[in-house]
Amino acid sequence: MTDLVATARSIFQPGKGILAADESVHTATARLASYGISTSAEMRRKYRDLFFSAEGVEQYLSGIILFSETLLEKGDDGELFPSSLAARGILPGVKVDLGTEPFSASPNELITQGLLDLSTRLAGYKKQGAVFTKWRAVIRIDGDQLPTPVALHENAKRLATYAKEVQTAGLVPILEPEVLYKGTHSRQKARSVIIETLGTLFSVLEEQSVDRAGVILKTSMALSGSDSGKKDTPEEVAEDTVAALMESVPQQVAGIVFLSGGQTPDQATENLAAITKHAKSVHAPWPLTFSYARALQEESLSIWKGKPENVPAARAAFLARLAKVSAAV
Ligand code: G3H
Repeated sequence: MTDLVATARSIFQPGKGILAADESVHTATARLASYGISTSAEMRRKYRDLFFSAEGVEQYLSGIILFSETLLEKGDDGELFPSSLAARGILPGVKVDLGTEPFSASPNELITQGLLDLSTRLAGYKKQGAVFTKWRAVIRIDGDQLPTPVALHENAKRLATYAKEVQTAGLVPILEPEVLYKGTHSRQKARSVIIETLGTLFSVLEEQSVDRAGVILKTSMALSGSDSGKKDTPEEVAEDTVAALMESVPQQVAGIVFLSGGQTPDQATENLAAITKHAKSVHAPWPLTFSYARALQEESLSIWKGKPENVPAARAAFLARLAKVSAAV
């Protein structure tokens, strides 16, 4: 087994998963503002420290995805975040895409940017302590119009180019083609779009000879759209999600992590528990775990409100949610 494959697999330790804390400056500002918290570079640093320095997070987290600015910052203990995480056995990763823009061939769809100077940036992130990376593509469902095959293909090509460069740089790539929860679509539609998205992605990865054993897939669950008026049971979500993955993901992949996508913390936890249970019963070949941002942060942020006196209670809420999500895997 190569070092990269071993690193990718080490994310999947029993009961452990990933905290996605890689919100860009723009997203972090909007996230904090939505909780009535004012923003500045220092407030973003405190926001990261709230989660990273919660005592005992290493029981539940095998990795944390950081935003590039956080790689260079220190916690309240004076330690650089990547080294303090690594010292506790938590692998530091970094988001390397530069966000999305409208896709010229289909302007209602988004395409992810960030390939131009990627290899230079990767060398820097590696020196700063990152051992894995993430690239997010966004796939929107709209009736039978979206996604278009051309947008799926272009996003898959960029994910594959990213994965190849990251492996060449000696880092593990997480490939995240997020099929958005937002919409009025049915769960069956989400399932077929996930199959089409992942089918396209893995055929392009093969064409570009990406080592599939050294990649981690980050995927959405198959859910009825958030504006569909339909509430899926965890068993329904599990059946369609696992069926979609069994149909489209090669068994060599190091493992699969799920995003929460705007589900409530309880919904993301219950659906994950049902998915892991169902995956086991059908002998799915890959390890599965969580890589949540909102579903892990939400309860804690509404307690914290940016105030130092609320830090202990906010951290307790974070640890309590981590314990539940960990039990789900
Ligand atoms: O890019 C999205 C994150 O990696 C996952 O975030 O769990 O809030 O969907 P989420």
